[in-house]
Amino acid sequence: LSELPEGYTCRPLQRADYHNGFLDVLRVLTTVGDVTEAAWNERYEWMSHRNDEYFLLCILDPSRKIVGCGALIVERKFIHNLGLVGHIEDIAVAKDQQGKKLGLRIIQALDFVAEKVGCYKSILDCSEANEGFYVKCGFKRAGLEMAHYY
Ligand code: ACO
Repeated sequence: LSELPEGYTCRPLQRADYHNGFLDVLRVLTTVGDVTEAAWNERYEWMSHRNDEYFLLCILDPSRKIVGCGALIVERKFIHNLGLVGHIEDIAVAKDQQGKKLGLRIIQALDFVAEKVGCYKSILDCSEANEGFYVKCGFKRAGLEMAHYY
């Protein structure tokens, strides 16, 4: 496993992370919108009741600001003998913190959880521009994403 830089830590998301920059890190990925603290708390509670299904991780810098994050969602299937599939979602590293192997560390940590809970594989969707990053993380191209927006 790759090491985190000196003073950086990795831990599960906490309710108080509304105030620690979690949503700002996600803004490097896409539109987040104006999420109020009440709405955050409601979503956080919903996820924490499903803590065998939703695994959200953060990386904090030495000042304890969140600078990276990622999620693993464990899907329960009937096929493959009631198999479990990990879905890796919303991987983001703050712009000024990219290139320090934080993204790699997030994927390794989520992969570790996926294997530990019994997933037979983990999958994710990404742009062509990020393919090289995921190849370095041990993933390989498989299939094609389709989307239907509502
Ligand atoms: N293409 C090719 N190689 C890459 C790329 C890339 N886009 N990004 C990183 N790498 C390489 C690095 O050079 C490094 O290689 P090395 O081991 O030979 O030095 C290795 O991958 C690991 O890189 P990290 O330093 O861990 O990457 P970083 O911390 O910058 O995180 C990430 C990569 C998450 C893609 C980051 O750049 C980011 O947040 N980008 C914006 C948001 C985004 O696109 N997120 C992914 C969306 S897909 C999804 O969420 C499932």
